[in-house]
Amino acid sequence: MTTKIIGTGHYVPERIVTNDDLAMIMDTSDEWIAERTGIRQRRIDTGEGVVSMALKASKNALENAGITADMLDMIIVATSTADDLFPNTASLVQRELGNHQCVCFDLSAACSGFLYALNTAHAYIKAGMAKTVLIIGSECLSKTMDWTDRSTSILFGDGAGAVIVTEAETGIESVVAHSDGRKGEVIICDGRPLENFLVKKNVTYAYTQMDGQEVFRFAVKTVPECIHELLDQAKIGVEDVDYFILHQANERIIRSVSKRLRVPLERFPMNLHNYGNTSAASIPILLDECNRNGLFVPGHKIVLSGFGAGLTWGAALLTW
Ligand code: COA
Repeated sequence: MTTKIIGTGHYVPERIVTNDDLAMIMDTSDEWIAERTGIRQRRIDTGEGVVSMALKASKNALENAGITADMLDMIIVATSTADDLFPNTASLVQRELGNHQCVCFDLSAACSGFLYALNTAHAYIKAGMAKTVLIIGSECLSKTMDWTDRSTSILFGDGAGAVIVTEAETGIESVVAHSDGRKGEVIICDGRPLENFLVKKNVTYAYTQMDGQEVFRFAVKTVPECIHELLDQAKIGVEDVDYFILHQANERIIRSVSKRLRVPLERFPMNLHNYGNTSAASIPILLDECNRNGLFVPGHKIVLSGFGAGLTWGAALLTW
């Protein structure tokens, strides 16, 4: 018995912000951003929030799976940008979906969050503790950006993706997940600072700070390594994989992974040019677009792989 994806959905805010739009508020250009990252535009939230985006993606996924919310045993939301510290995002999505029994929690693993959530759902299903799980990646990165920092803010976008998984005979074949906190400082966003009756501070908001080149080096090394580990575990080779659905951070990272794995770039679908890096939402948004475009057929072998702050990274192999 394993875990199968039976439905996908996504939602992105309506407001499109192009590279040319950014060039009007900072010293950058479409040429620089497109050449260094592949990104041409991103969606930016103008007031809707992580719960609302998660809910819309979830409704699409439920419809795609042909099931109703009352059939869910669990909702996991991968996010680093929740609207509130509590209640968790998953409980707020549950409230709106009208299922008032299932277990709900959020999971924080930055851009690897969706893969960690998929692993968690898979573990619950294998243990017989859940049958059908809604997994969501929903992020509003734009609120964590310093929009005067041109080296970081141009990379990210807002959005949500969701999948429904259930127990089945075929589906996930192997999973790997890794974390290494030693280099955590290369991509950080501080939380709410301590302020209470003992400690008085002038509270200021913190923004995402990143050492882009370190993150780049980390990604191009660890992603191919962890895909090899994943495929060795499943005793198959890269040539047996139909599609590689990678975290959509940067086209140059994906090109480098394709080269290091010696797999043609055509087997790496991409949508980062439209959405930028949507963190935990990027893999489920791309999965949904590929699913709805009819790219996957039953029996296809698909590798998912993500990396991000922590540092965290991981991969999953599944049969569609
Ligand atoms: N527009 C124009 N110029 C910019 C710019 C921008 N948006 N951002 C940086 N620059 C400038 C720098 O100031 C620097 O100028 P200088 O040489 O005069 O000092 C120059 O471009 C080169 O900067 P550098 O940081 O060396 O560029 P890079 O080739 O490393 O590209 C990133 C920067 C961020 C695009 C790249 O490092 C990257 O994509 N890293 C991975 C980040 C990532 O994916 N993070 C999320 C992981 S989940």
